[in-house]
Amino acid sequence: MCGIVGYVGDKDVNSVLMAGLWRLEYRGYDSSGVASIVNGDLEVRKVEGKLMNLEGILREKPLVGNIGIGHTRWATHGEPSEQNAHPQVDCEENIALVHNGVIENYYTIKEELIKKKHVFKSNTDTEVLAHLIEEYYNGDLKESVLKAVRRLEGSFAIAVIAASEPDKIVSYKSGSPLIVGLGKKENLVASDIPALLDHTKHIVIMNDNEMVVLQKENVEFYNRDGESIEKEEREIKWSPTSLDKGDFPHYMLKEIYEQPEVIERNIDLRLEGGEFDFGENFNFSPHKLAHLSHIVIQACGTSWHAGYIGKYLFEGYARIHTEVDISSEFRYRKPVMEGEPLVMAISQSGETADTLAGLREAKAKFLEILSLVNVRGSAIDRESDGTIYLNAGPEIGVASTKAYTSQIFQLYLFSLYLSKLKWAMDATENEEKIKEVNSIPKKMKKILKNVDKIKEITEKYKNEKHFMFIGRGINYPSALEGALKLKEISYIHATGYPAGEMKHGPIALISKNSPVVAIAPHSSVYEKMLTNIEELKTRGAKIIVIASEGDKRIKELGDDVIYIPPCEENLSPVLVALPLQLFAYYIAILNGRDVDRPRNLAKSVTVE
Ligand code: F6R
Repeated sequence: MCGIVGYVGDKDVNSVLMAGLWRLEYRGYDSSGVASIVNGDLEVRKVEGKLMNLEGILREKPLVGNIGIGHTRWATHGEPSEQNAHPQVDCEENIALVHNGVIENYYTIKEELIKKKHVFKSNTDTEVLAHLIEEYYNGDLKESVLKAVRRLEGSFAIAVIAASEPDKIVSYKSGSPLIVGLGKKENLVASDIPALLDHTKHIVIMNDNEMVVLQKENVEFYNRDGESIEKEEREIKWSPTSLDKGDFPHYMLKEIYEQPEVIERNIDLRLEGGEFDFGENFNFSPHKLAHLSHIVIQACGTSWHAGYIGKYLFEGYARIHTEVDISSEFRYRKPVMEGEPLVMAISQSGETADTLAGLREAKAKFLEILSLVNVRGSAIDRESDGTIYLNAGPEIGVASTKAYTSQIFQLYLFSLYLSKLKWAMDATENEEKIKEVNSIPKKMKKILKNVDKIKEITEKYKNEKHFMFIGRGINYPSALEGALKLKEISYIHATGYPAGEMKHGPIALISKNSPVVAIAPHSSVYEKMLTNIEELKTRGAKIIVIASEGDKRIKELGDDVIYIPPCEENLSPVLVALPLQLFAYYIAILNGRDVDRPRNLAKSVTVE
């Protein structure tokens, strides 16, 4: 959601800002803009729509100079338009500002500023801040920004330039993410690491209520009171090429195909030397984990589906009562937290506003948080007591794929670890279940090789307007995930249901030729699944089944069958995810959708 990039150095500001914005495109946006300072004047270019439009304008009318700020906007206050795009400027056109987040008390401040004769041109909360900084400005941008941000409520990250101080960018973080890139005779600031990687691997992660002032050869950090602070520099290991699509037409497809490699990497990291190793930031003692009263998982979207699978794993293997909540519900429902629970936050980005707020809600109750996060150094990573990293590499496609299967995989291993600590499972059985994971990458590769079958099925169903996904047991959350993947990238309505629940209402939706995706690999609930499929078949549904190789019975029931290699029931969601992702991907492609950047969606949901 909204991407910020700022640059000061010797390079051409057009190309640095544009390249940075392209790298942030995955976050989701509907308009964009850039500003620089040329001979003591602000120059601003803004457009509605795709970044291609901004690039076009910059080709015709390039910015001049070596300092600038850029932005991709995901509209919250005011419709997507050139006027509402950032940078927003003050009355004097001295100050330009880009912003990620929401300023909740903007309306009151706007009324106050209107009384003081400020003239507003947009409907945004952001413009209010540009005028507020102007109101306090007396020749010191840093001081006026500090005074202004102290008045704000909400979550925001900003980058500000002033024509009267053409050598610096002032940036402040409170809620939304902000990373500083330290270069040689150049410095940068951005909402996410990919925008910096072409210039430097040396970064500083900003915490809330911190300010940075960037100049070409100098970077200073301050706290909210304007006192100088020291910050830790880190080196990023990713290479810029890991951010490219390679030979794949879309990031999503590339990321689907990376999944066997992600699981292989995690087998090496987590099970090296035959012992569980949850990484350098795990921080939870075996003693503490052995005495947990229960587990509370909170997450959003696909990460919530992974969390739901976690419930089956923790209860099934470790016999620990587990609750799973959608973060936006968890944080407002006044949850009862008695005993010694472990709260788990699951998030690819580590920046999801609701998940972060849920984590803070739990912390306020003095509970300890263990998170599963892909992006190291993200807010959820930093604020948790311990983190298990997903090690999935950068995930750029908006639809989560490789992070999801890694989340399930980590939960599987963690549940086996807990079962060992709690003596909930026979040691030999535990060993057997651990060994099972070694076969998973090979099985995933096999599924990915059989993509033609999935393509063929999607051709057949591409014009359907509604899909139902059903599953039972640990693959009920897989059904939810299959439906979410399909709807978010194809815009076709899809709904996921526990198969046993169909006759309590949803079966009324089934008529002749209604397409139903049934997830029915061999499992403890296989026979029950067959009965549920029969019930739908009898009512005319067209059944697309995901089944285990060698299952002959299913052929008679399913109109189309996608086979996956047989595996341990509790690992099956990892394999099942692949055909579901490919099914959604090819249906979306056949419908001409922009799968990497589906409409209205953002990769990192930093507002509630
Ligand atoms: C769907 C998807 C979203 C995210 C959700 C949470 O494909 O990607 O549903 O899972 O927005 O995001 P994270 O995991 O970054 O907290």
